[in-house]
Amino acid sequence: RKVAIGIDIGGTNSVIGIVDEKGEVLSRGNIPTDKYDDINLYVNELSSAVKDCLKTIEEDIEVNGIGIGAPNGNHYSGTIEYAPNLKFKGVVPLVELLKEKFDYPVITLTNDANAAAIGEMIYGGAKWMKNFIMITLGTGLGSGIVINEEMVYGHDGFAGELGHVIVEKGGRKCGCGRRGCLETYCSATGIVRTIYDLLGDTMEPSVLREQVSSGTLSSKSIYDAAVAGDKLALEAFDFTAEKLGEALANAVAFSSPEAIFLFGGLANAGDMIIKPTKKYMEENLLKIYQNKVDIIKSELPGADAAVLGASSLVWQELRK
Ligand code: BGC
Ligand code: NA
Ligand code: ZN
Repeated sequence: RKVAIGIDIGGTNSVIGIVDEKGEVLSRGNIPTDKYDDINLYVNELSSAVKDCLKTIEEDIEVNGIGIGAPNGNHYSGTIEYAPNLKFKGVVPLVELLKEKFDYPVITLTNDANAAAIGEMIYGGAKWMKNFIMITLGTGLGSGIVINEEMVYGHDGFAGELGHVIVEKGGRKCGCGRRGCLETYCSATGIVRTIYDLLGDTMEPSVLREQVSSGTLSSKSIYDAAVAGDKLALEAFDFTAEKLGEALANAVAFSSPEAIFLFGGLANAGDMIIKPTKKYMEENLLKIYQNKVDIIKSELPGADAAVLGASSLVWQELRK
């Protein structure tokens, strides 16, 4: 069986999956990302975790390569550069370092949201779409833009950093060093910041205030509170959706997508985030785009979605 190794690098965890061409995951592994600030140590651990993962597979497999999705990943250079949400500083030559450990025909890296977009194109809801945008709402906000069936990389490979478009002059401080970036409002961490802001403005009782004290506040706990009717939680979702809807209306004007997919932590809130985002997007769209652009929850399957996306890079490379 032909397989590819998919690696999704997140701020907290790096997840490994050995995936066949149909998208079946044969083996899984993971290592903490945030335990390492030395890239060489990290690559050593990652490589041995990949080898362990391969050992658990008993049938005959042919490994075709490694595909990696990472925040601030650059497909052209195989580097991760100045990632606000990773501990590795500066420019990290990840593909080069992995080539010292493995000699597969393809070892390739791209931005994590681009990987999700390519996964959506090969295995998910974008199978029949030529133009769409993928938005990932995790620790940060990532985006992958597909135009005419092609991932947009731009001049230097960094196209599609919608998380760092400024939506509020002098607004919240961002990990990139600037202020008011979209991801400081619309992400799993952004909605937590919104709760802090809202709690600071009111004395109103809320389960979320208790969660702050006990250190259990998260985008998931905010979602649960919103489902239970908590006023502040509902307000936070509305505020997040407003900011996201406005930003997406602007994004539509760039590439006229057929749909926008939402993926990751906050996207798991489903209609709680999708419905109001769609409403605010429509309110802000230029007339020529109104009622034409869908907002859809990613159809990549649950826990494996990100590695599926990463592994799909290998098949995409081989088809070229
Ligand atoms: C990074 C992006 C990344 C996104 C999601 C942002 O802070 O700049 O490259 O795709 O977070 O991880
Ligand atoms: Na991107
Ligand atoms: Zn930023």
